[in-house]
Amino acid sequence: VAAAATEVYLDNAATTPALPEVAAAVSEALLHRFGNPSSAHRWGIAAEGLLREARGRVAALMGAEPEAIVFTSGGTEANNLAVWGLAQARRRQGGRLVTTAIEHSSLLAACQAVGEALGWEVVRLAPDPDGVVPVERVVAAAAVPGTALVAIGHVNNEIGSVQPVAEVAAALRRIAPRPALHVDAVQSLGKLPLRLRVWGVDTCAVSAHKIHGPKGVGALYVRPGTRLVPLLRGGDQQGGLRPGTENVPGIAGFGVAAELCAADAGAAARMAALKRRLWQGIAAAVPGAAVNGPAPDAGAPHILNVRFPGLPAEVLLHALEARGVACSAGSACHARRPQPSHVLLALGLPAADVGASLRFSLSRLTTADEVDAAVAAIAAAAAELAGVVARR
Ligand SMILES: Cc1ncc(COP(=O)(O)O)c(C=O)c1O
Repeated sequence: VAAAATEVYLDNAATTPALPEVAAAVSEALLHRFGNPSSAHRWGIAAEGLLREARGRVAALMGAEPEAIVFTSGGTEANNLAVWGLAQARRRQGGRLVTTAIEHSSLLAACQAVGEALGWEVVRLAPDPDGVVPVERVVAAAAVPGTALVAIGHVNNEIGSVQPVAEVAAALRRIAPRPALHVDAVQSLGKLPLRLRVWGVDTCAVSAHKIHGPKGVGALYVRPGTRLVPLLRGGDQQGGLRPGTENVPGIAGFGVAAELCAADAGAAARMAALKRRLWQGIAAAVPGAAVNGPAPDAGAPHILNVRFPGLPAEVLLHALEARGVACSAGSACHARRPQPSHVLLALGLPAADVGASLRFSLSRLTTADEVDAAVAAIAAAAAELAGVVARR
């Protein structure tokens, strides 16, 4: 990374830095609470205690029962376990699965795998231009006989649109037999209130590294009584749903991250205000810039997707990096092999605009000074690039 005047990390939807308290908890678990949580001796019981504590903390942030939390290696595994596990468990009810066209690749690919392996029809609903799939559209698709599963993301990772998952859960209860509902809440955990127990969601995926926890740790909420076929075979850890010795250090770090997140009650309002400030700064400085997806005041508080017509996103991205600002074009999973964003295309954006769009994403640690520095860098980079494009 070239030396730059500013260092502003606005790629928090890709991942966040771990907090010092999280690193301390991971280290403590690695060095001092190293027992196998399944062991009967006190070393094992100490490790088991860490799992129990973390389970309670993560459950609290999800509005869930602690016993419903199954720790996984991250959001990707949680999405796969839910979609595959629910589909397998409902093979006889099944034949049809409803999702949306704008899901994270881990959810889209898991749905596709069920379609291919079980011969299920996979329905991918289109969103409105603001990135929201209205409840009525979901319910109409889910009411078609044979629909065994509905799988949707709560907050979209590229544009920050928010799907009405509580309303969807309520509406599905009126369909018999009721399809199972899986929610990918990786981008909403800690950003929007989650009330899984109240909403009546069956399964829900979250990930630690989006909330300043460690990478490679996540969880799947599995509503008590929900039947799920596990992906892995082995021991009977976590009720057999996720066999294998638990990642105790990572899980302990996740628990601390969840607790710190829950304690920061003003975070969402702060991020929303900074997102507004970022957009107002960009709008004032870059002629023609426009927001993709939900209006800047709608949507999740931490994700802003902006198109800069005429400016190639990859070039702008690198010009910003040279000025010390990190953001992304598309989602991180594909950032190294750029392909047009399936999310922006599904919104109906022309390919040229898709290739001129960047995602800026905040965290609860982002400051107003950082946003102002980013705006200055974006203004300078866009002006410079516009000059280059004009001279061509
Ligand atoms: C919406 C969404 N779902 C799932 C994932 C995957 O989570 P993980 O990186 O923990 O596998 C991500 C991460 O980018 C995401 O944004």
